[in-house]
Amino acid sequence: MIPIHLGTPQQFRAVRDFLLAAGFTAPAIAERVGATTIYDFRSLREGRPQDAAPRDRLDVLIRLFMDAEMVEWEAVRAHVPAPAVDAFTALGLLTNAPSSAAHACARVLLYPTEGGLVVSDLNADPDRSVAEPSPPDVVYPAITHNTRQFLASQSTAPCEHFLELCSGTGVAALRAARFARRAWAVDITERSTVFAEFNVRLNDLPNVTVLQGDLYEPVRGETFDRIVIHPPYVPSRDNLYVFRDGGEDGEAITRRAITELPGFLRPGGRFYCTCLATDRKDAPLERRVRDMLGATEREFDVLLVTTGDIDPLTYYAKKAASRRGTFAEIGDWYDLFQRLQVLQLVHGTLVIERHRQAKVAVTARRQVGVGVGLAGAEDWLFAWESAAASADFAGRLLAARPWASDRAEINVVLRAGDDRAWAPVKGTARTDWPFGMVVEGPPIMVALVGRCDGRTSVAEHLASFRQSGAVPPEVPDEQFLGLVKVLVSAGILGLDEFPWPPLPIAPGSA
Ligand SMILES: C[S@@+](CC[C@H](N)C(=O)[O-])C[C@H]1O[C@@H](n2cnc3c(N)ncnc32)[C@H](O)[C@@H]1O
Repeated sequence: MIPIHLGTPQQFRAVRDFLLAAGFTAPAIAERVGATTIYDFRSLREGRPQDAAPRDRLDVLIRLFMDAEMVEWEAVRAHVPAPAVDAFTALGLLTNAPSSAAHACARVLLYPTEGGLVVSDLNADPDRSVAEPSPPDVVYPAITHNTRQFLASQSTAPCEHFLELCSGTGVAALRAARFARRAWAVDITERSTVFAEFNVRLNDLPNVTVLQGDLYEPVRGETFDRIVIHPPYVPSRDNLYVFRDGGEDGEAITRRAITELPGFLRPGGRFYCTCLATDRKDAPLERRVRDMLGATEREFDVLLVTTGDIDPLTYYAKKAASRRGTFAEIGDWYDLFQRLQVLQLVHGTLVIERHRQAKVAVTARRQVGVGVGLAGAEDWLFAWESAAASADFAGRLLAARPWASDRAEINVVLRAGDDRAWAPVKGTARTDWPFGMVVEGPPIMVALVGRCDGRTSVAEHLASFRQSGAVPPEVPDEQFLGLVKVLVSAGILGLDEFPWPPLPIAPGSA
């Protein structure tokens, strides 16, 4: 049974106005409960220390809609005016606790997010009397760390048509209402579709359309300049929860979303998919994505930004240890992943861009940089890698004046030579912005990074290394330029022409 009702515009306005007046915002809630951001919210059940009784309306709202606790009607009425209580009740947000008519309890979770006010299914029983399992179509909450990362990975630059597939609460489409001319949210379950429509009305967003159906099916015939998806991706044989289970290898939905993408993504458009997927023998994930794109794959750039990886055996052992699986089934999973030649499971975001005009196709993998998400790092990477792959780039690079990143550090290995004099034999350069990167290189790499001051051109560096003999005559210019390219690609060296995005502030904290 779906607990909420798509009531009247007046009821939605009454609830919205009350929540606004009560200061029901992410920073206010985080401060009230002593969390860094709303994504770190801990409910009373999860051990947050509690005051004896709600002090004000913000406390009442947190207790009802985020802690999922019963609150005495007397306390509710003391802080919430009657017309607002009526509207909460009429929309199905609030009801009598089953075990006590003197207590109110929420029928859904309700919280502020980057997308505005959002309702999703309860994650606990306020009454503690009924221990019903979650329904298979339970609506996934939008303040999880996964959804935070999903949102933080996407561009929020203005666009025309925005599509969120597997939308659940519709949180990405709700947020896109601010920067897209029109946004669509599509989910396969009726329950998620009703919740997303409820959220659209609660936030009064006339440019967001919610549709029910399988992936692209409800929007066939339409095209988009941004498509985002946080699909179900847990490898699973029983497909119990629609939000979670992604078929035997976890990739069933992701694969279909990518295979059908060419029919829906406009030139210049981007696709963002935050998921878990697999590297296979001789087929790393970003290459497999190219295969999934099919005949038109050369029209697309593909970037995989990883947040972590794990080998299949450890993954299943951890699941069993945390009681999300059993030790008995580890052998079966091992056999399956052996058969599929899976080397590791990779968590992260796939970014796919369709070229506006013909150019070399970029394929790259990086580790996420500092903070959560990408914060525009993908814009930089596509611009730089496309330019660096172009035929006439050597001249531009020779004229550029690189500087060393102030977030980079280099470890140098010294070894004593025959004359007992210590000399560098190799260096390891690292940075955490725009991506997390590690580059190992010869001593000349260490010397070059040390000399890059933003005033000296690459051509001047090369001439000076040639003069000192550090770059011998038999080494072609291209080899030196190749080293510069590697260091720029890694974010160890920066160029004026390809500025890095500013370091992100944590989303949800502002
Ligand atoms: C992990 S939740 C993501 C919800 C939301 N986008 C977020 O990030 O918080 C995955 C959602 O995918 C939906 N889903 C599963 N299979 C689908 C399909 N074939 N087509 C459309 N939606 C699907 C589920 O109902 C669920 O709401």
